Amino acid sequence: MLLFYATRDGQSRQIATKISVRLGERGIEARPRDLAEGAPAAGELSAASLVALVASVRYGRHLKEAEQFMALYDTLASPPPLALASVNLTARKPGKDTADGNAYLRKWIARHHRKPALATAIAGRLDYPRYTWLDRQMIRLIMKMTGGPTDPQARVEYTSWDAVDRFASAIADLQNAQK
Ligand SMILES: Cc1cc2nc3c(=O)[nH]c(=O)nc-3n(C[C@H](O)[C@H](O)[C@H](O)COP(=O)(O)O)c2cc1C
Repeated sequence: MLLFYATRDGQSRQIATKISVRLGERGIEARPRDLAEGAPAAGELSAASLVALVASVRYGRHLKEAEQFMALYDTLASPPPLALASVNLTARKPGKDTADGNAYLRKWIARHHRKPALATAIAGRLDYPRYTWLDRQMIRLIMKMTGGPTDPQARVEYTSWDAVDRFASAIADLQNAQK
């Protein structure tokens, strides 16, 4: 199986790495690959038994390389099952961590004609000191509107590593069912 991620600040890489470790414990080898370092060939994707993608959201959209990946996946004649994880801050709220409850994930899936076998939204990380001035002000505004922290020094990891483990476990079950 193949495991990809798209990240800007590293949280999706950490999540993909954790998934990779969990899969390894289940006897499944899947090295996390950064889509920013190059997209896979269509043939490689088609030949995989399962494909997983972990991708973050910035300003309402999944990262460009993740969008390009999905466009490529859409072109495959007989694609392997897809496991999708959307990483964003909205998912920190109860009920916003599912394919139905998370608007980014729901719209993402709706825009593509093939439904993923697995889809989840995972809460990311807030890290104001790391952001540019403009990004910091924008995210503070969003946080003010959604009841989150606005202290410009705030650094909060919202990621539920238990949820990541559960997603990895579901991927392992699916992969083992493909054999
Ligand atoms: C510039 C910027 C824009 C963001 N836009 C959104 C957004 O529109 N909705 C949201 O829920 N989270 C948003 N986030 C939060 C990120 O999705 C979150 O920080 C995530 O952990 C980033 O993952 P990454 O480190 O893999 O890039 C934004 C973060 C930044 C820095």
